[in-house]
Amino acid sequence: MKNRRSFLQQLRTLSLGITPLSFFQSLQGKDLLQAINDKQFLSAERLATDEDFWQLIKQAYTVSPTLLNLNNGGVSPQPKVVQDAVERYNQLCNEAPSFHMWQTLDQGREPLRAKLATLAGCSPEELAINRNTSEALETVIFGLRLKEGDEVVLSKQDYPNMRHAWIQRASRDGIVLKWLSINYPSEDKNDLIDQYVSSFTENTKVVHLTHILNWNGQILPVAEIALEAQKRGIEVIVDAAHTFAHLVYTIPSLNCDYWGTSLHKWLGAPFGTGLLYVKKEKIKNLYPLFAAPNPEEDNIRKFEHLGTRSFAIEQAIGHAIDFHWMIGSERKFKRLHYLKNYWAEQIQDIPNVQLLTSLHPDFGGAIALIAIDGQRPEKTAQLLHKKYKIHTTSSKTDNIYGVRITPNVYTSLRDLDRLVVAIQEIANDVK
Ligand SMILES: Cc1ncc(COP(=O)(O)O)c(C=O)c1O
Repeated sequence: MKNRRSFLQQLRTLSLGITPLSFFQSLQGKDLLQAINDKQFLSAERLATDEDFWQLIKQAYTVSPTLLNLNNGGVSPQPKVVQDAVERYNQLCNEAPSFHMWQTLDQGREPLRAKLATLAGCSPEELAINRNTSEALETVIFGLRLKEGDEVVLSKQDYPNMRHAWIQRASRDGIVLKWLSINYPSEDKNDLIDQYVSSFTENTKVVHLTHILNWNGQILPVAEIALEAQKRGIEVIVDAAHTFAHLVYTIPSLNCDYWGTSLHKWLGAPFGTGLLYVKKEKIKNLYPLFAAPNPEEDNIRKFEHLGTRSFAIEQAIGHAIDFHWMIGSERKFKRLHYLKNYWAEQIQDIPNVQLLTSLHPDFGGAIALIAIDGQRPEKTAQLLHKKYKIHTTSSKTDNIYGVRITPNVYTSLRDLDRLVVAIQEIANDVK
């Protein structure tokens, strides 16, 4: 509520003409602001089902009216205010690049770090701004001081870039990888915790956890596993590519040491923006991936020596945070979960369709996976696209195989009705 109020205050300042935000000066934008104001006392549950409100949110995007994008798990579109900010900052940079990148926009990095820290619930001194989850977590995987024989517990369902990084590290340094393979979906928290904890030995130095599995949207009980790891002196890395600005939590509540995310996923920030968290007392001993003047200094900024990059997209992250706060974290999660369950509950009664994601909010958010008996998921995804103009993706790893479907805040119930009909028809044709 406080964040939404400060967002409105900020917009009032901006509308004085200091920085024009064209969307919020348009009729649609003004309607949205009015609705935010009118509905500020509505509970997150009530708002989740208010189609008129979410229709106004949709107007803040520039998504295709014909191709129905249900692969928001891959990367999210940016609200118009974010796109406009990128363009505006980019134009400014092109007036005198080295001046405006390194003397004007550069001044915005520390305020941006502070804003991200407010959203993440940690100290700004623990956050490095970078380009994506892969960069964040590979910094950790290659920067940890591990020696031959040290063990790392991870799973076959972790994201490929991260698995590959660990395999490369193991082949260079002789560390030992202990792979789990877990049967998903699962709603058995204790079993999930036990599977990790029972793999820990006296040689385990690190556990790598994926907070939400990209394959089927499964949520892992990260905080509980991390607590057990902490008791045994094991360091915890969290792959939060899919959870930042999707689930409602703070980074410290996960009990982890290292954490990485992509801001171009659920925050709706520009493509190629990411974040690395390193717990304050761990910064000194973690080597940066891109060399720093003093690799052993106790300063989070040592992880930001990335060379020349787009300061326009970096600064536009702040507008994505404002947009997120305008909706509110709790309201956004409730809506996303409501949307997922809306379509998933309808298709789970189709006899030859399997739902491979939990409907419980502790174990699944916006992302869900389905499979039609007797049809390869690639074929199902292809039919959804060719025949119904619905964009999804097939998802396959180890023991998980299906079609992944991911709505976003701009997705309407009408869109999902179209999906349900399409799945019903495709499944019927297979019988
Ligand atoms: C769980 C998970 N980790 C890491 C990544 C990598 O993200 P990026 O390509 O933004 O580095 C992804 C991307 O989808 C993911 O789903």
